[in-house]
Amino acid sequence: MEPIDIVLGAQFGDEGKGRIVNYLCASGKYEVCARFNGSDNAGHTVILGGDKFAFNQVPIGAFHGMRCVIARGCMVDLERLDAEIERVEQAIQIHQCSDNWSLYIDSRCHVKTQAHCDRDIQEEKERDKPIGTTLSGNGPAYSDKHARVNQRICDIDLSIYPNISRKAMIVDASLLDYSHCLVEGAHGIMLDIDSGTYPYATSSACTPAAACHSIGVSPKSVGRVIGVAKIYVTRVGAGAFVTEIQDTKLASKIREIGGEYGVNTKRSRRIGWLDLPALAYAVRVSGIEELALCKVDILSHLENVAICTGYNNIAFGYVPAKNEEYEEVEPIYKSIKWNSSGPMRVVDLIEKFIKVPVTIISSGINKGDIMIR
Ligand code: IMP
Ligand code: MG
Repeated sequence: MEPIDIVLGAQFGDEGKGRIVNYLCASGKYEVCARFNGSDNAGHTVILGGDKFAFNQVPIGAFHGMRCVIARGCMVDLERLDAEIERVEQAIQIHQCSDNWSLYIDSRCHVKTQAHCDRDIQEEKERDKPIGTTLSGNGPAYSDKHARVNQRICDIDLSIYPNISRKAMIVDASLLDYSHCLVEGAHGIMLDIDSGTYPYATSSACTPAAACHSIGVSPKSVGRVIGVAKIYVTRVGAGAFVTEIQDTKLASKIREIGGEYGVNTKRSRRIGWLDLPALAYAVRVSGIEELALCKVDILSHLENVAICTGYNNIAFGYVPAKNEEYEEVEPIYKSIKWNSSGPMRVVDLIEKFIKVPVTIISSGINKGDIMIR
């Protein structure tokens, strides 16, 4: 079997995974595209014929005529998936993509309902310090799963969901052929339930190991593990953010140019400088072997860019477990004059500090704006 390649977020989500997965799918190298975690709390944006399209639960391979798989570690919101299939089909028609994509959903996937959403909203209201969840019910649904009181797809009569009934094949997805498979992760390592900034985290695992676990393949079948990072960092919701830019004018400027608003929730994303210690941590705990660096063009309107190369009094690559402690950490910055050689200086810094190669650089939304190294 051909190795399975995995694309993951290396920060707090919204790194540009959609862009990278879409690019890799277009290469023609892959036949299968699988999702392994999360629910419609995730939003993956791709540009199709100049229009923005937001995927939530359907794998991006749908736009490339691929076999798409929603693996058993995903939390499926059937009502929203039903609507999303229709949106995907409309976009495929409008933009004349190949329409021979297929959709397989693992019968063991757990199901998220409106009651989970209502609980998410209520629990957020009752928290002294709200997490800033997407209010999509993701946390309560995973709680019910782990409490072993939740329903799975195999328990549901799907006939009330016309698009799912028509389009999806409900299967034991571990039996599928994963040759030439690209796996797209949702969220990012810093939101992972175990390694992320708990409790300001999502409720699923976001690592390549979790991908194997969810799809039902051996860890030995993994090929490339590509982490995606932006040249700056964003975060939506509460939780430690060591390199957050306190200068609101500067943060707004980057937010506006970078379009840093939540795909689903439309919330303003918090903005910060690239955090190399956190990135080193994410790479270490997940096994990322190469990086795709995104949104390099966004900083071109700045004169100087800061890169965090260490935390005061803390060994490089160590991240405090306790949120309050992490929030107290002091970043050490290297300032870089932002001229034409700025981006490559950052790439050099990443490779020097993180010790994985930057193999993909994206500096715009067009096809030609991706550089492979
Ligand atoms: P939940 O996953 O909706 O419970 O939200 C938990 C935390 O993860 C919150 O800080 C959310 O903003 C964040 N989060 C969840 N999904 C995404 C995503 O796809 N991109 C960015 N942040 C996310
Ligand atoms: Mg997103």
